[in-house]
Amino acid sequence: MPSAPLSLKQAATPLAQGVAWIEGELTPINEARIPLLDQGFLHSDLTYDVPAVWDGPKLQEVAASIPIPKEDIKTILVDMVAKSGIRDAYVELIVTRGLKSVRSGKLEELKNNLYLFVIPYAWISEPEEQRTGGSAIISRTVRRCPPGSMDPTVKNFQWGDLVRGLIEANDRGAMHPFLTDGDANITEGSGYNIVLIKDGVLYTPDRGVLEGISRKSVIDAAAALGYEVRLEVVPTALAYTADEILICSTAGGVMPITSLDGEHVKDGKIGPITSAIWDKYWAMHYESAYSFDIKY
Ligand SMILES: Cc1ncc(COP(=O)(O)O)c(C=O)c1O
Repeated sequence: MPSAPLSLKQAATPLAQGVAWIEGELTPINEARIPLLDQGFLHSDLTYDVPAVWDGPKLQEVAASIPIPKEDIKTILVDMVAKSGIRDAYVELIVTRGLKSVRSGKLEELKNNLYLFVIPYAWISEPEEQRTGGSAIISRTVRRCPPGSMDPTVKNFQWGDLVRGLIEANDRGAMHPFLTDGDANITEGSGYNIVLIKDGVLYTPDRGVLEGISRKSVIDAAAALGYEVRLEVVPTALAYTADEILICSTAGGVMPITSLDGEHVKDGKIGPITSAIWDKYWAMHYESAYSFDIKY
């Protein structure tokens, strides 16, 4: 694995632990509160997005549906990042349906609420784990919530299935759960998309998953490196014969998986295609097509 820009560089300001924006006010992250009647809290009626700041001046493009102009959100977020002094940051935007009681209230009368926060960069697979590759399991106890119940392409906080997957992974001595669709096909995991690599081709599910921005970056990186990427139904069986496996998320980037259900993936080493995509992914953080500068 090549050496990486995987250090946390953080300035010591009062907001260095993180900062939240709630109803126009900036608050230190540990003091931030949401109103009890917010439907995002009561009914998980919300959506969210997570861009990242890497190495100070880089913020990945935000692609969310938000109730105030995108440019205004961008200005507020850039200001929050600058005020916090956090150089490698995890930035979250949450839009909820708004305030309503448990039952009463007409949907059309509700005003969406926007919440923003910036905290130090979060890793699904820590830098140390990324050097040797993480361990995953294919969950036996829980399937991914079907798209007919909860649209997985709308990023949401319905994490009951993903949390159960994490608990099972922990019980089975692994870090990362892979959930199936209940019909022996791979979907995604707790905050990441899954990519299998076999005979030089990348496979990732085309349905039942969040169409994550990191998955898009992996697809772009693979295309730039000349690899074929297939978006299609991905049978679980392919995971057991894959040459390489990676997971990808804004929280950690491209993360190699070298053990599945307690067995090595191929020889248990990080494969060459994963390494090449990993390098390209981090290089893309410095390309203007994928990022813009922030002045601290
Ligand atoms: C269920 C799920 N899948 C995939 C992802 C990865 O998405 P992204 O690459 O946009 O961070 C996330 C991120 O939170 C997620 O929650």
